[in-house]
Amino acid sequence: MSVLSHSSGDLIADRRADYARMLDEAGDHAAAAEVMAQALELCPDWTAGLALLATYRERAGDIQAAIRTLERLDGEDKDDVFAASLKLAVLGAAEPPAHPPGRYVEALFDSYADHFDAALTERLDYNAPARLAGLLARAADPDQRFRLCVDLGCGTGLSGEAFCGRVDRLEGFDLSLNMLAKAEEKAVYDHLTQADLLLSPRESGLFSEGFARERADLVVAADVLMYLGALESLMANVDALIAQGGLFLFSVEDGGDCETFTLLPSLRYAHAFCYVETLLAETGFTLKAHGRAALRKDAGAPVPGILFLAQR
Ligand SMILES: C[S@@+](CC[C@H](N)C(=O)[O-])C[C@H]1O[C@@H](n2cnc3c(N)ncnc32)[C@H](O)[C@@H]1O
Repeated sequence: MSVLSHSSGDLIADRRADYARMLDEAGDHAAAAEVMAQALELCPDWTAGLALLATYRERAGDIQAAIRTLERLDGEDKDDVFAASLKLAVLGAAEPPAHPPGRYVEALFDSYADHFDAALTERLDYNAPARLAGLLARAADPDQRFRLCVDLGCGTGLSGEAFCGRVDRLEGFDLSLNMLAKAEEKAVYDHLTQADLLLSPRESGLFSEGFARERADLVVAADVLMYLGALESLMANVDALIAQGGLFLFSVEDGGDCETFTLLPSLRYAHAFCYVETLLAETGFTLKAHGRAALRKDAGAPVPGILFLAQR
């Protein structure tokens, strides 16, 4: 059972929570919140239950009660697996953090891994890997083969599949072990390892096991930067990873007029074109090409994105 859906450990509280979920699914969010609050009277420290109560209260339009619940959750959930810090920021009750909590992102994708490919490609029209492959084909030599492509935030391997035909060796790195296990099944990667792009190059996991610096002539990050927030640590890792002349190909959600990056109600981050352009220049990259495209759908609406191709 995923950490995001774990039981309270109390049979009666679990039954009330089930009933609350049914009420929520039926659209009676206020009743769902009331029943969930009763469940929590039996298990006051149940963090997954507090997260659900906050959601039902928010859906019922009782924002102040949702904020109070999230503040309580924030105090209980030390690793912030339920992302109370992000939700409080979205509700205007706290400053947005520069990065999402790592345990939240890891647990989110661990619980998503089994359904990811079907959900993204069949229902959400996900196309970031294909769009990035298209930009690479247009803006760089279409016949160029790459010695080593590193796929950052490789997930289940949809991005690796889009590039494996042009590379001699493909390495994939991701925070979520369950996503990596799915990528392994696709059998397109020569190497897969857990890594955290928000850590320094020394700690990230990209250079462990004797893996060299400046080894890649293509680095790809498809639909990953929206889970990072501030991009300085990512750029330090890419800087350490990429060989002179190598290409860095990635997508962001379009932050429009924001100055740097902004936290969205989806709990993902969107980035401003200028922020990315400045960071690339400061890290010694030249922007070779960029494009705008819908990366996928969210709640039925297209998600506007920016695709970047930069050269070291
Ligand atoms: C939307 S998926 C995209 C996966 C893949 N690139 C694709 O195109 O299908 C985002 C991936 O980024 C990974 N991720 C998020 N934050 C990360 C971090 N700090 N370090 C490494 N991977 C991360 C997630 O675990 C997830 O697998």
